[in-house]
Amino acid sequence: MTTLDRITSIRELPIENKRVFIRVDFNVPTEDVDGKTTITDDARITEALPTIKHALERGARVVLASHMGRPKKGPDPKLSLEPCGTRLAELLGVEVHMPEDCVGDAAKKVVFDLRAGQVCLLENLRFHPEEEKDDEAFAQKLAELCDVYVDDAFGAVHRAHASVHALPKLMREKGCGFLLEKEIAALGKVITTPDKPFVAILGGAKVSDKLAVIDSLLEKVNALLIGGAMANTFLAAKGLNMQASKIEEDKLPLARTILEKAREKKVELVLPVDVVVAQSVGASEGRTVGVGEVPEGHMALDIGPKSAAEFAKHVAKAKTVFWNGPMGLFEKEPFAGGTFAVARAMASSPAFTVVGGGDSAAAVKEAGPEVAAKMKHISTGGGASLELIEGKKLPGIEVLRRTTTP
Ligand code: 3PG
Repeated sequence: MTTLDRITSIRELPIENKRVFIRVDFNVPTEDVDGKTTITDDARITEALPTIKHALERGARVVLASHMGRPKKGPDPKLSLEPCGTRLAELLGVEVHMPEDCVGDAAKKVVFDLRAGQVCLLENLRFHPEEEKDDEAFAQKLAELCDVYVDDAFGAVHRAHASVHALPKLMREKGCGFLLEKEIAALGKVITTPDKPFVAILGGAKVSDKLAVIDSLLEKVNALLIGGAMANTFLAAKGLNMQASKIEEDKLPLARTILEKAREKKVELVLPVDVVVAQSVGASEGRTVGVGEVPEGHMALDIGPKSAAEFAKHVAKAKTVFWNGPMGLFEKEPFAGGTFAVARAMASSPAFTVVGGGDSAAAVKEAGPEVAAKMKHISTGGGASLELIEGKKLPGIEVLRRTTTP
């Protein structure tokens, strides 16, 4: 269910003077600069600010918790949340206390010393393997740190992990923060009550990753535009020789089934008519050819300008547009044109435009701040937004619903 039905907003929760556990998703992209872990995109931190500020202004004792990366064997200094704490302190202009662990004496000491309007950030939850096991005893240790539970970690609600699932199960007072509320409202509208025409644009590398979402979208959209490497598999399924392009050979029958299903459902399935090709992903320039004319030894690395114009035409006619997955290798300048063209087309459309998280969100930001600012919603969750569009019930959302009336 993709609605806010029976989920209490932080606005209505009794948080004054209480220890409020806010699960955030500070799993931000980082890079190593001279041995120092540096955040390259702090959107997940800035997007959580309204909830954090609201709680602080109402005099809560705020306990923030998040995961970072996928640590394999316990604590890993490279995956510490310390850079996030430092960035958060800069953004809030207040001290962010940082215990060296998320449970146990270190955490308790910091949390129980907090005064109203003060904030701490616990260390990476995944330093304890129990987090990913949805372990109840671990959740109990987290529960000892708080009176009220708020989930604002949209990027993690598809994970049945202790801090998003077992913990809220134990809590009487629980609800969602403003970011989670905004995400559910926007993605919920796309999937439950989209204004028509509804156009979806899918890209990225693999058909297999997008299978469930294609199935779900074929029931709802008027047109499905497919770009990125996954388009190669569809073009090959239609009998075109894509030469050295990336193709999922074992998914060709599946691609044919999808093409057939789209015909049955009368959904216009639009594939590229031209592509930008090169001999390798490292090439410094590309050349545009028709999809039936990929030269031997070349691979398609972006959709071409005719395809981008065709996609833009569909976007211009739409009232709802959902986009997930880049149209090509947008990280490299010669192959970014198609992805940026789609981003610009969406930015100039008055439609309800929603960008799924992950690569497409990164691409929109790279297309320019004016482009990103014009989107109605850019999700902070990659996997979570896709699963929501697939129509799945997500554990971190379902657990927040009240079973009794307040
Ligand atoms: C994400 O980046 O998609 C979320 O933070 C979830 O991370 P995970 O895929 O490692 O669970």
